[in-house]
Amino acid sequence: MIRFITDPDKRREISCTILESLKDWFEVEESREDYITRSADRPFFAAEEDGRYVGFLCLKETGRHTSEIAVMGVLPGYHGKGIGRRLFAAARDYASMNGYSFLQVKTVKSGVYPDYDKTNEFYKRLGFKELEVVEEYWDKDNPCQIYVMSLKSAVNIIAVRHSYRGKFLPEPVPKEDLMTIARAGMDAPSGCNKQTTELIVVDEADTLSKIKALIDPPVASTAPSMIVVLSRKINAYRDRCFAVQDYSAAIENMLLAIVELGYQSCWYEGHITDDDRICDKIASVLGVPDDLEVVCILPVGKAAEDFHVPSKKQFAERVRFNRYTS
Ligand SMILES: Cc1cc2nc3c(=O)[nH]c(=O)nc-3n(C[C@H](O)[C@H](O)[C@H](O)COP(=O)(O)O)c2cc1C
Repeated sequence: MIRFITDPDKRREISCTILESLKDWFEVEESREDYITRSADRPFFAAEEDGRYVGFLCLKETGRHTSEIAVMGVLPGYHGKGIGRRLFAAARDYASMNGYSFLQVKTVKSGVYPDYDKTNEFYKRLGFKELEVVEEYWDKDNPCQIYVMSLKSAVNIIAVRHSYRGKFLPEPVPKEDLMTIARAGMDAPSGCNKQTTELIVVDEADTLSKIKALIDPPVASTAPSMIVVLSRKINAYRDRCFAVQDYSAAIENMLLAIVELGYQSCWYEGHITDDDRICDKIASVLGVPDDLEVVCILPVGKAAEDFHVPSKKQFAERVRFNRYTS
């Protein structure tokens, strides 16, 4: 379990316990003390296992668009269990959600110390790319390797997208951002290029209120804008209709564009297409013609709260190479 720690004393206590156990990596007492002191004021993530904290990671801002993994450590007995990767994922989500475009990390370059070679491999496995080696950054015995990662790459945006169901900030979303999101939806593939998906972008307060009044129990009630997804159920060829696949591809594209632009959303389909057919009532408010169906709404806005990251099954439970059984 990864926790976001806010109490400065707790941050110091956790970083002290862990760094004291990692003297091979953090051997200079003065710099260890420095990491511990500074960790008190920085975004701080801790990994809890067996009823105690076994790892931590702390971030620092190094520029308007860049956050750095200032320090991370995992107790020796807990290496190789995916704890570092989970700490990293939580920090990457946090940095992305807080509008940073890049994540950087510094370590001693490969080929100098075996322990640091492992650290280099770890960062590369996470997706960091070598930016530069600065020989004198620390001192000549410890050449500094700087790694960087774009938080705006497609793969990262996919990794940091999560369904957001919290409150939104009361800030309008600029029209050009809504257009970019809608364009991403329209750029999606569709079966036989039938382009069965259409959209209504809603950003007028009056229309938004009318839609929100129909959604019971309420969801997205604070969203400053919304994209209503429409689907035309026509066949692509013979009796094959791909309208569901078409709008699913469009929705996923839009969710990714929403996150890239710094907003949050959730795919609300089940909620509005149930027996009470909220979707049909929304269609009526928006004057949607009979040959199109409202299938989903996507709120768009800046998150006002933290979001819940759902647990997913283990990768190996769902992905295999070459055969289902070995
Ligand atoms: C077809 C479909 C319908 C969905 N309908 C709803 C919905 O009505 N309400 C809701 O809160 N989430 C809805 N979701 C979001 C899922 O609950 C969510 O994607 C899932 O729990 C995984 O979480 P994640 O999106 O954070 O990875 C829907 C997702 C899909 C793909």
